[in-house]
Amino acid sequence: MALVVVTRAVPGDALERLARAHDVKLWPGDEPPSADELRELVLPAAGLLCMLTDRVDAGLLDAAPGLRAIANYAIGSDNIDLAATAARGIPVGVTPDVLTDATADVAMALLLAVARRLPQASAAVRSGGWRTWSPTGWLGLELRGARLLVVGPGRIGRATADRAAAFGMEVAFAGRDDDLPSLLAHADVVSLHAPLTPQTHHLIDAGAIAAMKPGAILVNTARGGLVDQVALRRALVDGHLGGAGLDVTDPEPLAPDDPLLEAPNLLVLPHIGSATHTARRAMADLSVDNLLAALDGRPMPHPAATRARGEP
Ligand code: DGY
Repeated sequence: MALVVVTRAVPGDALERLARAHDVKLWPGDEPPSADELRELVLPAAGLLCMLTDRVDAGLLDAAPGLRAIANYAIGSDNIDLAATAARGIPVGVTPDVLTDATADVAMALLLAVARRLPQASAAVRSGGWRTWSPTGWLGLELRGARLLVVGPGRIGRATADRAAAFGMEVAFAGRDDDLPSLLAHADVVSLHAPLTPQTHHLIDAGAIAAMKPGAILVNTARGGLVDQVALRRALVDGHLGGAGLDVTDPEPLAPDDPLLEAPNLLVLPHIGSATHTARRAMADLSVDNLLAALDGRPMPHPAATRARGEP
């Protein structure tokens, strides 16, 4: 039996399965442990089941000399210094596939909501701003025939593309080797599905936004760091972009007085892409599978390394 630290309660019964094989120490808070609390928690641990809100870096690993396995409760692994874990021979696992549909659903929901201005239309009903049906009220983008550019053609990107195609959109993909500005110039909607790496940080910066078609919509369900939010805010305020739907921001959460939130035609969600009962239970199952395997000396079934170049 080894000690496994779990940094948040997760849905389903996977932790019971883990507890049958190992000693489980569950962080009791609804909020993540602070860096100091995490360091103290992992000190005696052999296994760590952590969240995307936990930063796992060389300092933390040095504080946990007995750590033999890390399972990230996410498909993304940008919260973990994979070079530092590799240097110490610590395997890192992630949760592929099981959140693909849930996240693609949210990408599509954001696309629809922003394209058809649902948040503003709903707010007008509540505030009394809606006085009568109007031929010119709340006009938005018709999806049939509109062009979607999926940036990051991994599983979630392709699942989003399938949904968009079912709505009659014309879909194009941008991978790492494609000429992003020229693809951006033709898209009515751009949906981000790339992993956050040093290379993709601020992939959508002022230059990329300038390359986007006037009136285009940006959707991001991957990682907030992909977008330069100052440039995004400017483009929404000056009207170059028609709207944005973000499930992810940098930082998370945004401060309530963050200037981005004042931008028009912006819908921001609290990182709920994978938030279905089904997906979150399955993520727990995969995380526990990863830990049980590694603590038993077997390869993790879902290692981060094979995903690091793939998708969030
Ligand atoms: C992930 O798994 O990386 C997602 O962002 C969590 O919803």
